[in-house]
Amino acid sequence: MRTLKLAAAAALVLAVSACSKDGGSSGEAPASAPADAPAAAAPTDADKAAALAALPAPYNTGDLANGQSKFALCRSCHTITEGGPDLTGPNLHGVFGRKVGSRPGYPYSDVVKASSFTWDAEHLDKWLTDPRGFMPGTKMTFAGLKDPKDRIDLIAYLKVETGYKPAP
Ligand code: HEC
Repeated sequence: MRTLKLAAAAALVLAVSACSKDGGSSGEAPASAPADAPAAAAPTDADKAAALAALPAPYNTGDLANGQSKFALCRSCHTITEGGPDLTGPNLHGVFGRKVGSRPGYPYSDVVKASSFTWDAEHLDKWLTDPRGFMPGTKMTFAGLKDPKDRIDLIAYLKVETGYKPAP
C-alpha cells in the first residue's frame, strides 16, 4: 500500500516535470488552483502535483518523494501540519511568508528573535545549508543539508506541505 502510494507520487512528479519541460504554456497547467479552498479538505496527490508545478523554478522540478525522505531529518523537532504542536523546534505550517521567529508562544533564541527577514526559499536554502553559520547562536542543532538538490527537493516538499500559496 505504502509502496503503491509512493510509486503514484513518483509517477505524478515525473508527469509534472515532463509537462514543465515543454515551456509551461500547456493548457493543462493548473492556472487556477483555488486560492481559498476550504481548509478542511485534505489535499490529494493531484492537488500536491499542481501545487508543485505552480512553484517558481527550480522548485517546480523538485522531487517530493526525496523531499519527504529528507524531512525525516527534521521530523524529530518539527511538525508541519496546520495546528501541529511545537516540539523542540516550532511548528512550520505557513512558514513561507512568515517573519522569522514569529510563531506565537515558541521560545526562540535571541539571535532568531533579533532577526527580521521573512522566510522564503532563498533564506531557507541558506538556513538549511548551515543553520549555525547562517545565524550564529541559534539553538537549532542541525548540521546542515549539504547537497543543493536535496535542499531543492526538501524546500519544494515544505512549500507543498505547509500551505504555501504563490502570490497571485
Ligand atoms: C534537533 C532539533 C531540530 C532539527 C533536527 C531541526 N530543527 Fe529546525 N529548529 C529547531 C529549533 C530549536 C529551532 C528554533 C531556533 C532558534 O530559536 O534559534 C528551529 C527553527 C527552525 C526554523 C525557523 C522557524 C521560525 O519560526 O522562524 C525553520 C524554518 C526550521 N527550523 C526548519 C528545519 C528543517 C527544514 C529541518 C530539517 C532539515 C530542521 N529545521 C531540523 C530544531 C531543529
